[in-house]
Amino acid sequence: MDATVPACRPLVARRPGAPLRGRLRVPGDKSVSHRALMLGALAVGETRISGLLEGEDVLRTAAAMRALGARVVREGDGSWRVAGRGVGGLAEPADVLDMGNAGTGARLLTGILAGSGVFAVLTGDASLRGRPMRRVTEPLKESGACFFTREGGRLPMAVLGAADPLPLDYTLPVASAQVKSAVLLCGLGARGITRVVEPQPTRDHTETMLRHFGAKVVVQDTAAGREILLTGQPELAGRDIMVPGDPSSAAFPLVAALLVPGSRVVVEAVGLNPLRTGLIATLREMGAALPVVNPRIEGGEPVGDLVVEHAALRGVEVPPGRAPAMIDEFPVLAVAAACAAGSTRMRGLGELRVKESDRLAAVAAMLGVNGARVAIEGDDLVVHGSGRPPPGGGQVETHMDHRIAMSALVLGQASEAPVGIDDASFIDTSFPGFADLMRGLGAALSPP
Ligand code: S3P
Repeated sequence: MDATVPACRPLVARRPGAPLRGRLRVPGDKSVSHRALMLGALAVGETRISGLLEGEDVLRTAAAMRALGARVVREGDGSWRVAGRGVGGLAEPADVLDMGNAGTGARLLTGILAGSGVFAVLTGDASLRGRPMRRVTEPLKESGACFFTREGGRLPMAVLGAADPLPLDYTLPVASAQVKSAVLLCGLGARGITRVVEPQPTRDHTETMLRHFGAKVVVQDTAAGREILLTGQPELAGRDIMVPGDPSSAAFPLVAALLVPGSRVVVEAVGLNPLRTGLIATLREMGAALPVVNPRIEGGEPVGDLVVEHAALRGVEVPPGRAPAMIDEFPVLAVAAACAAGSTRMRGLGELRVKESDRLAAVAAMLGVNGARVAIEGDDLVVHGSGRPPPGGGQVETHMDHRIAMSALVLGQASEAPVGIDDASFIDTSFPGFADLMRGLGAALSPP
């Protein structure tokens, strides 16, 4: 057996005997955490980060930035300091950079490397090694960077960054914040203006944070879509960053509380960037109230305390244009839809096929094995709810996918019979402490 593969941790979720209750904070936003470490490493001077997600994915990025010469130090719970090397100042890593399960880490780092003149080799776990990298290498090679990948553009991949990268001008063929960010991060090393146009807006944490570090970034709406213009070779200066609670992690206790009768849960300080709140909009359309109290701006990002009470949900149609604003939340929305009255059609989900697993197939299998009626129609996922939770009793294969694991465990809080998962270990990639935090609210999760 491969000694680097952690042992599986099966887990079973049962309907709790009482409502879910309490106030909680979810770990820091994964997207913001990766970017904070990366831009900290590219800045001159010190960046102090609070609330950093200390999940496996982000720890891999911390290790990679260290291997590229930045000083990255953990000072306490979520408090980190990064002493950067400046744009153009990264050093050649002495070994392969193993990005674990993290697509965001791998793709954004590829952009940085492309614009940095450095040679590096990237790999990851079996899930990441199966994911497409051409979506970033295709635009990035126009900068002058070279890439050698496995068949199909898969990791491991050798990158030879361009010594004098050209600025890119790229229109995204898929709605992907990772591709957008890789192009912009490459543009840091280039002379002149890097231009990205995204026909569908995606999360804008890279643009926001680049500005926070002192880069010139202009964003404007054009007929072709959202245009982002970055002026290359900026002097980035170390900054303080407060990482908001991850709305994609908040989604799990949120949906659990909606589904368990009598529940009331408050998720504090959760990120409410409008390009991330598609799940909240959809659940409101399905009949949830979800008031936000104490809305505020923290570290340049909108945050608030989200109040969740049990609600009877009804099926809705989710338009394809909303998919980027809730791309990671479809597995748990599908769980809510399976408990709702009527059908929910989630449209335009082709991108789910290239996540940590083929999430369209994994979600359909998760619900199907637990007695819900579900169909994949083209790029749409259709869930037929009966107004009651599905029977449950199924054993879910998680396919190294943290969000499939957590979604199945939420389903088990509502279904009549318990829901088992083959492996809870990948939950640590994005939501360390998930099981304990859910148990703190009253959820029933235990080993088989
Ligand atoms: C992310 C973008 C999304 C999302 C991922 C995080 C980011 O991926 O699924 O979890 O931080 O930029 P895509 O860009 O592939 O849609």
